[in-house]
Amino acid sequence: MCGIVGYIGKGNVAEILLDSLQRLEYRGYDSAGLAIINQKNELVVKKDVGRISNLRNEIFQDFQSHSCTIGIAHTRWATHGGVTKANSHPHCDCKNKIALAHNGIIENYRVLKELLIEKGHVFQSETDTEVLVHLIEEVYKEKKGNLQFAVVEALKLVEGTYGIAVVCTDEPYKIVGARNGSPLIVGIGEGEMFLASDVNAIMPYTKNVVYIEDREIIVIQAEKDDQLKTYDLNYERVSKSVSVIDWDVDAISKGKYETFMLKEIFEQPDSVSTALRGRVVLSEGSVKLGGLNMTEVQVRQINKIIITACGTSWHAGIIGKYLIERFAEIPVEIDYASEFRYRNPIIQEGNVVVVISQSGETADTLEALREAKRKGAKIIGITNVIGSTIARESDGGIYLHAGPEIGVASTKAFTNQVVSLALLAIYIARLKNMPLYEGEKLLKELISIPDKIAEVLNHAEAIKEIAVKYAKVSNFLYLGRGFNYPAALEGALKLKEISYVHAEGYPAAEMKHGPIALIDENMPVVFIAPKDQLYEKIVSNIREVHARNGKIIAVTNGDAANINEFIEDYILVPQTIEEFSPIINVVPLQLLAYYIAREKGLDVDKPRNLAKSVTVE
Ligand code: F6R
Repeated sequence: MCGIVGYIGKGNVAEILLDSLQRLEYRGYDSAGLAIINQKNELVVKKDVGRISNLRNEIFQDFQSHSCTIGIAHTRWATHGGVTKANSHPHCDCKNKIALAHNGIIENYRVLKELLIEKGHVFQSETDTEVLVHLIEEVYKEKKGNLQFAVVEALKLVEGTYGIAVVCTDEPYKIVGARNGSPLIVGIGEGEMFLASDVNAIMPYTKNVVYIEDREIIVIQAEKDDQLKTYDLNYERVSKSVSVIDWDVDAISKGKYETFMLKEIFEQPDSVSTALRGRVVLSEGSVKLGGLNMTEVQVRQINKIIITACGTSWHAGIIGKYLIERFAEIPVEIDYASEFRYRNPIIQEGNVVVVISQSGETADTLEALREAKRKGAKIIGITNVIGSTIARESDGGIYLHAGPEIGVASTKAFTNQVVSLALLAIYIARLKNMPLYEGEKLLKELISIPDKIAEVLNHAEAIKEIAVKYAKVSNFLYLGRGFNYPAALEGALKLKEISYVHAEGYPAAEMKHGPIALIDENMPVVFIAPKDQLYEKIVSNIREVHARNGKIIAVTNGDAANINEFIEDYILVPQTIEEFSPIINVVPLQLLAYYIAREKGLDVDKPRNLAKSVTVE
């Protein structure tokens, strides 16, 4: 939610800030702004609603920044205050000397705002953030010449979450940053320094990154010996180490594809292969998971697993539950992360909490992790972003290795989440009760999945034709059973997110308990109906919908003759075992949603109201 960047160096500040900001746009894209200190030591602040391209036009029309060396910028996902220019960041103090970009929420902003107004501060926006810059101004008045002190003392008065970047014209050679609950990293370049919400922002400039932790304050400047200083809130120095990022820049460009989402859908044969690489040991019918940090004895002693996640990751988690219960025979609970921490989850000796998050920064998931930790659970984090907060705060974990996912709607992360959960389930099962031949059989099937996904992708044009046919419809139902019920949920979510069409995912057999009332000739129903032990049952559900004139789109490898007369459209998928079938079946659903959204002329990479990384609760 919201992206922040800061830059100090001899490059073209405005250009670098905008370029970095553009790579953070998936964190929010309601409005954007930047603040640069110019040669006359004045703050130049530019803001605009809408996309960063709007801001770019404005900047290059009337502002050149070649000779400037320092600035901060922000792309917004609105929380407090509407989407207006005035509410866009950066926000400034009364004298236009201090500018601040903020990601997070200042919860006690009302009380602070009243106090500051009494002291004569004048506010320009409706945001919670603006309070913080006036607070910093207030402290700065008392101890002039120490921006770091002013930021720390102001933050001590604030309740809430923040990742911030602050500049001040009285100290025009430094950026002060701080983090509590919203991600922040520092990039160390050659004679230049960056600060950003995540590594995507700065990848073309440097791969040397320092991760900032909660309640740490940083001061960055371009001078060689003094580039980064990190402190805690008591002004004690904190030592940090530099990590080297191994993603390359191509991974964050669209390449030959029209959108990131399409690229990411088509990357799935490769991303699934990468998730499997080096982890499958066929000869032992087993799996190597180096990062779990659990001994074999500890794994054998697991007596319950609780999976928690949000959105698409939660859908992967449901499949994870089914996989672990079936293969490893351990009871598994699954819960939305946002619900988990507000009930009283019972965690006992031998329980493990599996936390799933593509970004590794989702606030609800992170707080669920922390609550589980407080209750003594061992945490396994399944994340994509290396070095993300969830990855760092977990006791052990599995990286998805899906590469950067930029499209706001999650696709390749989902398939890699399910693959990772399958590996985890087989790993535990083999340490407990699963025979060698069974492990071997499952793993052989798992390594055949990338080719089967590639087969589905070969039918993209046919799926596009179906999408065009249904693009004007305003409601959809997605039905699946067993392992494909979560696939139905995921298919419906994809459609809602990017095409703004109302869609419901349901277990197919539940339809008769209510949703069947919705069915008429205007209701397309997508059935995920692979030929598995539930096939005949789902065929009955298909007939029930047909009898009520619903339009049926079947994703199946079943016997066409059996259902041909009832269905309107067909998406043929390759055969695999029931347990892995959602990994394949979700792909045509991603494409269906994609092409419907494109047919409606929508921006699939940045759907309205959404952001990739939801760092507010
Ligand atoms: C859906 C989507 C969201 C995320 C959810 C959790 O396409 O992207 O539903 O899955 O916000 O995000 P992560 O996995 O980053 O924790």
